[in-house]
Amino acid sequence: MSLPARLKHGIEMALEGVNLKELGQVAEDLSNRYRQEQRDGNFHLSSELKAKAYLATRLPATYGAIHDGMAKLGQLLPRFAPRTHLDVGAGPGSALWAAKEIWSRLEEATLIEGSSDIQAEGMKLSALLDAVKVKWIHGDLSHSLSQLERADLVTLAYVLNELEPDLRLALITRLWNLTDGVLLIVEPGTTAGWQRLLIIRDHLLAMGAYVVAPCPHSETCPLAKPDWCHFSARVERSRVHRLAKDAELGYEDEKYSYLAFARSQPMPTPARILASPHRRSGLVQLKLCTQEGKLEQRSFSKRDGTLYKKVRKLDWGDVIIPE
Ligand SMILES: C[S@@+](CC[C@H](N)C(=O)[O-])C[C@H]1O[C@@H](n2cnc3c(N)ncnc32)[C@H](O)[C@@H]1O
Repeated sequence: MSLPARLKHGIEMALEGVNLKELGQVAEDLSNRYRQEQRDGNFHLSSELKAKAYLATRLPATYGAIHDGMAKLGQLLPRFAPRTHLDVGAGPGSALWAAKEIWSRLEEATLIEGSSDIQAEGMKLSALLDAVKVKWIHGDLSHSLSQLERADLVTLAYVLNELEPDLRLALITRLWNLTDGVLLIVEPGTTAGWQRLLIIRDHLLAMGAYVVAPCPHSETCPLAKPDWCHFSARVERSRVHRLAKDAELGYEDEKYSYLAFARSQPMPTPARILASPHRRSGLVQLKLCTQEGKLEQRSFSKRDGTLYKKVRKLDWGDVIIPE
């Protein structure tokens, strides 16, 4: 997956003249902070250089993961066409760019961010976005989000792990109350990320939300530790991205976990594929989470006729859509 051309151009402009050695060092420190899930009262993106390092080395991955999650929830809610978007912990606006790519009729977006440095970068980028009225609000998610208007689409991407655990459910309740259509939450694809999402899943199901994706059911999650529900988005690396990470490959695979909740019932689906399919000639083996809330390993062969023809084209993260 590659970034929209305007976003790519905006990032290139933001990174012009930046010392790549310094950028690489800051990107590495940032990546360690994220990996260790450090919460020391400071924003991770607390300087201009850190914000630029995020644009170069994290934005492509978070954009890719959010875009993937949105595409997957869109499959199950084909009539969902949001006009308004609220994104909290917006960073550089990754979720807005992904939303506009998936739902071209998006007209208005409100983005809330606590770090001035990343907000400044995000504002310059969102000025390049066509046909969306964007409002940025500088604010802290730990406080109440008063005076916000409800939105068709509400997103919280890669933010939960930066919030104190005792603040998370209160924020999710407020966000659900601001959601007219869909609430999408994306987290790093780690066991810890999935455990955070499971708590939110229980909370929102108890509030009457419908889970749209990835779960094809509202039963208890059948995955037992150390297994966890996660997916992978392949994203292109720019030259600066490669240089900042001292990486050779022109792409990276971002592991992510996500949950999407809706106010209306999604299209039912028999199962979702939870790992890369094993393919051999005439046979495909899938790890499935089923509509009944069960985890199943199933093999499909040529004897399954059209069903085999259909599933052999599917990949990790896809759903088996009924005829
Ligand atoms: C990892 S970044 C994710 C940014 C963006 N959503 C994305 O997916 O690329 C997390 C963002 O949440 C913001 N954030 C974290 N805690 C916050 C808080 N209490 N109030 C406002 N923003 C917060 C951070 O400053 C940062 O920009």
